[in-house]
Amino acid sequence: MKNIYCSYYTNSEPITVYMTKRLELQDGDKVLEPSAGEGTFIESVLNEGKSVEIEALDMNSGAIEILKRKFMHNDQVTLIRETDTLFDSQLDMYMMFSGYYDKIIGNPPYGAWQDYDKRKELKRKYIGYYVKETYSLFLLRCLSVLKENGILSFIIPDTFLFLNMHENIRKTLLKNAEILEILIFPSKFFPGVCFGYSNLSIITLKKTCDEAKALENTIRVIRGFKKAEELPKVLLDEYTKDIQIDTIKQSDIFKNSNTRFLLKDANVKLDLNKAKVTLGDVSDVVTGFYCGDNLKFIRVKDKTVKGSKNYEIINEDEIAECTSLEGIEEKGKKYIPYIKSTSAKRYLRDDDEWYVKWDKDTIAYYNYNKKSRFQNSKYYFKTGIAIPMVKSKTLKATLIQDRVFDQSIVGIFPKNEKYLYYILAYLNSDIVYKMIHILNPTTNNSSNYVKQLPFSIPNENELKIVNELVSKIMNSFEEEAIVDVAQKELNVIFEKKYLKLLA
Ligand SMILES: C[S@@+](CC[C@H](N)C(=O)[O-])C[C@H]1O[C@@H](n2cnc3c(N)ncnc32)[C@H](O)[C@@H]1O
Repeated sequence: MKNIYCSYYTNSEPITVYMTKRLELQDGDKVLEPSAGEGTFIESVLNEGKSVEIEALDMNSGAIEILKRKFMHNDQVTLIRETDTLFDSQLDMYMMFSGYYDKIIGNPPYGAWQDYDKRKELKRKYIGYYVKETYSLFLLRCLSVLKENGILSFIIPDTFLFLNMHENIRKTLLKNAEILEILIFPSKFFPGVCFGYSNLSIITLKKTCDEAKALENTIRVIRGFKKAEELPKVLLDEYTKDIQIDTIKQSDIFKNSNTRFLLKDANVKLDLNKAKVTLGDVSDVVTGFYCGDNLKFIRVKDKTVKGSKNYEIINEDEIAECTSLEGIEEKGKKYIPYIKSTSAKRYLRDDDEWYVKWDKDTIAYYNYNKKSRFQNSKYYFKTGIAIPMVKSKTLKATLIQDRVFDQSIVGIFPKNEKYLYYILAYLNSDIVYKMIHILNPTTNNSSNYVKQLPFSIPNENELKIVNELVSKIMNSFEEEAIVDVAQKELNVIFEKKYLKLLA
């Protein structure tokens, strides 16, 4: 059952205390909680003891009942209404009158399932914005009903800072608000919520109708928190040694590609403007095949394989060595080796671990089944490089030869074969891992970001040295000491070449 309301209620005092204080509440303020749930933020606003008026909205009737029970006799909570905040007509009116609220605080829904009809309606209303993830629409909506100089504080995933699909919301925020502070911290600080794909953030901003003023503003981005209790300490300017504070001018963010927040990684910043060539210029970067139902069509070597829990074990008699998009010719054979998920080692995969059904009947089924995706099939069975879509502590790039690769893999196919080993070593180097993390700090290596990695074409001598080291690694694959030394040499070579991009 999909979570339609995405009701992760805020149950962390350090978070509510920090956010409420950042609102700088004044007597007479009109405060909005746009996705009020059971009213945690309403309670913390009331605790500030100011004479404010609070309005609470939520689309879940159960939550509204609880709110009414809690606050019906509190004359500071002037409105509790069941409504869809993103479509509410009263808010449409407030927007037309350039805002109504002095302060807005909330934990809007994220990761909530949007059915297709609702997505269509959202697309019509929020033209040009990414509608599959509602938290960014809540930001937009609430900014539109905030008065000039009004303050908003939201706790949301940090993906709006980096991902390409959120570019338009970044532009809107940078031009219409002075972003005062952004705290970034692990989602596990938030009891009950733990999503692997990104960190959480708290953004506090002040609305302005003066674009020049907004662009002049400098944002403080604070990271490195080890526990939730450190968050309110920011209010007192007290920081532990791990805290990292970046100050970024809003106009500078516009200079970055895709208007992305490029945060310093261990005090380094990636200057992509210095890179003339990207990995996408010298290779095709693509995602792989999806059969439509993994458990039905994919088999695993044995149960030692990571992530194999619900998969059936392959019957070895059914494995064929076929490299045709038409399917297996041999009678009785049904599966081919398949590249899926992360590899234990860099450069080469130890053994085939996964198998995908590839007999002619099944291929015919894939072709008409709407869920199967034969995407980028011209690269299947070709020689290239695989990296997993999901990041781990190091980026493990491996050769792909004569295999189909899964959609959980980004396949990199050099346009000029002579760069194959060189790009393989480049992707396995520490500095490239750092660069990809700066490009996209979430846990995803999607092909769009991999393509944007700066690439400096090697001269013949550099190519020769790197090729020799890669051959050495491959030929001594079982001898860890030799592999380690060669990898260290490669790290130094690539660091020398790319360090100038990190300032
Ligand atoms: C993440 S919970 C947060 C609740 C509360 N703000 C808190 O921090 O405890 C999100 C809330 O948003 C509500 N919600 C989801 N989509 C909504 C929408 N389109 N309009 C209004 N409320 C919505 C859910 O019912 C849920 O109560």
